[in-house]
Amino acid sequence: MKSSLNKILIIGGEGYIGSVVVNYFLEKGLKVDSFDNLTYKNFNNVVTNNYNKNYKFIYGEMSEIDSLVKFKDYSHIILLAGLVGDPITKKYKDLSIKINENQISNIISKIKNINLNFIFSSTCSNYGLRDDLSPASESDKLKPLSTYAKSKVFIEKKILSLAEKSNFIPTIFRFSTAFGLSPRMRFDLTINQFTREIALDRKLKIYDKDTWRPYCHVRDFANILYQCVTIEDEKKIKFEVFNVGIDENNASKSEIINRISKLKKNIKIEISNESLDKRNYVVDFSKLKNVFSVEEFLSIEFGILEIFNMVSKNIFTDSETSEKYGNYMVSNIE
Ligand SMILES: NC(=O)c1ccc[n+]([C@@H]2O[C@H](COP(=O)([O-])OP(=O)(O)OC[C@H]3O[C@@H](n4cnc5c(N)ncnc54)[C@H](O)[C@@H]3O)[C@@H](O)[C@H]2O)c1
Repeated sequence: MKSSLNKILIIGGEGYIGSVVVNYFLEKGLKVDSFDNLTYKNFNNVVTNNYNKNYKFIYGEMSEIDSLVKFKDYSHIILLAGLVGDPITKKYKDLSIKINENQISNIISKIKNINLNFIFSSTCSNYGLRDDLSPASESDKLKPLSTYAKSKVFIEKKILSLAEKSNFIPTIFRFSTAFGLSPRMRFDLTINQFTREIALDRKLKIYDKDTWRPYCHVRDFANILYQCVTIEDEKKIKFEVFNVGIDENNASKSEIINRISKLKKNIKIEISNESLDKRNYVVDFSKLKNVFSVEEFLSIEFGILEIFNMVSKNIFTDSETSEKYGNYMVSNIE
């Protein structure tokens, strides 16, 4: 039997999702070590949490993580780090495979025989282009289209192949496309990007307007991860895969525009016939609901409103520019 919740290591703990998760866990009184290489100069939380005795920041590259942390010190490891999304993994394909496949694989090999919980953040992008809009469930065939999603499927398979051959307790979460406020803001995500452009009265070009996808607020990922690390019956999560989101937050891009346009008159939209991103999938979340509570999950409208209000106050202007990767934002692609 694994010992109970002790200290949690969050790899990628300073990212868009990670920094919200770290804060959520600290609010709940958990002990968190955050490991990150601050790719995007995303050090806001490092400064804010510096004096919190339950928080420790460990700066480093995933490739050298085992010389910087002792995995055995943790009851839970959550892996959020990597190069995230289609544009950046397309632009830096070899590097992304090195990070998102080789480095993560190495970590899994090193922890698989330790009696700890491991949570891997995968993506609903693994469903890729589906034949119709019937909701995809966890056991459906995966059709990853991008290097990004192919690497996620590669790691999922590696984890699942270790059932009966390891001592760890892994759980795979396929996150919906995120939205909402975070200390490390991302505006290369559909809802955040659309809302910002409209709030700033800029012209917004929409590609693939009728493609569907599920969306989920960043804080709800933190909520689910918290429920997962505090769960009593580990059989429910051991070697399990869950889609993370709620049915009501499946939406097409046109629908998102409709909702944002309620906040502003005379919005400037150009519909492009060019296709940048063919992914089209609606996702089923009933498995998640059977194990976890999703009653407090936030709506797309909630996210639109909070982003609209922040951006209207001129907060978060150039957050998608990284010294290392230049301007990595292309357009509304996770
Ligand atoms: N944001 C979404 O819509 C979304 C949707 C589905 C799944 N996910 C998954 O959730 C996780 C977090 O995504 P995010 O949106 O927070 O991305 P993010 O880019 O904001 O966070 C990634 C973090 O990892 C760090 N990092 C990158 N390479 C590293 C390395 N080699 N060594 C150490 N640290 C490194 C970065 O500095 C960053 O803080 C990812 O695994 C992503 O695939 C995100």
